[in-house]
Amino acid sequence: MKPKIAFFELEKWEEEHIKANLKDVKLKFFKSNLNERNAKKIKDFDAIGIFIYSQINKKILDKLPKLKLIATMSTGYDHIDLDECRKREISVCNVPSYGENTVAEHTFALILALSRRIIDSVNRTRRGNFDLEGLRGFDLKGKTIGIIGCGNIGKHVARIAKGFEMKILVYDIHKNMKLAKKIGFKYAGFENLLKNSDIISLHAPLLQSTKHMINLNNIKLIKKGAILVNTSRGGLVDGAAIIKALNKNILAGAALDVLEEEELIKEEKQLLSKQFPMERQRNVLEEHILIAKDNVIITPHNAFNSNEALIRILDTTIANVKGFLKNWKINVIK
Ligand SMILES: NC(=O)c1ccc[n+]([C@@H]2O[C@H](COP(=O)([O-])OP(=O)(O)OC[C@H]3O[C@@H](n4cnc5c(N)ncnc54)[C@H](O)[C@@H]3O)[C@@H](O)[C@H]2O)c1
Repeated sequence: MKPKIAFFELEKWEEEHIKANLKDVKLKFFKSNLNERNAKKIKDFDAIGIFIYSQINKKILDKLPKLKLIATMSTGYDHIDLDECRKREISVCNVPSYGENTVAEHTFALILALSRRIIDSVNRTRRGNFDLEGLRGFDLKGKTIGIIGCGNIGKHVARIAKGFEMKILVYDIHKNMKLAKKIGFKYAGFENLLKNSDIISLHAPLLQSTKHMINLNNIKLIKKGAILVNTSRGGLVDGAAIIKALNKNILAGAALDVLEEEELIKEEKQLLSKQFPMERQRNVLEEHILIAKDNVIITPHNAFNSNEALIRILDTTIANVKGFLKNWKINVIK
């Protein structure tokens, strides 16, 4: 019997790309995410391809007793309960490096949008107003960028920063002195980075150890007038801390591609459900406060979303599935 694989959250052209490249399997496609309602439709499936809006928890896994592979079409995998997968001997694989330049380029799009007041400038000229009042920006040359997490994406951010002649500080739990020398950055302790960076850019994964790594206790360490950029995961920062830092003029601005409750913001009706704890409802409220602020720009988890990156994601996912079917197991998260 052919292995059965279901893919979620794909556009039509992505479906066609997968159909053309994954033969000898039975494929099923869903426009929506995988959730408790549609899981029953794939109860005898061997593998799933999902994106970050499919939360894979015990309840979903209970509905998929035959599942052997979860191929997430993302780098991050904090939407998957790995312990539960391990218990059930389900392999989980990701796309480790589709976005190193793509996400780094978006990071700089956000930095430049803030440093050169691009959003306000465009809004103004659209109204026919060419006044410069209040639109003065600042140069990146000579400023210090603090990169938190210098893996595939952080490295590329450092390379771009070098092109702008910025000084670069890096905080990472793993040091690579060769890389530091090659790109030309210095490692710093976490607190030191907060104290000395004009721009703080987050590129660490969301783990229990990194949740709210920027919080109400440490925002006072941030250099006055710095800007915070987050293209990693919303959960790395406590929304209440960003609001406080902006209100107290510790931060001059923030640019966020990711929000802790981005799924809920998309589907706010869910907030009315009793399942959602008060804490998460408060997070959503905080995020609405952030969205409305003039010195905050938010993009809708769009940093990965370039033509080239999407093809790389699909091709790596197809390779992950083929590897699994042939028992090579590539890009498996341990
Ligand atoms: N916004 C988007 O569209 C988008 C797209 C892709 C990835 N991402 C996010 O970007 C993150 C980084 O991606 P990547 O490909 O560079 O991952 P990566 O694994 O290559 O790099 C992560 C780096 O963070 C470091 N790190 C781990 N724990 C740390 C800690 N406690 N403090 C400091 N550094 C720590 C690691 O040592 C590593 O160098 C992903 O985890 C994902 O959540 C977002």
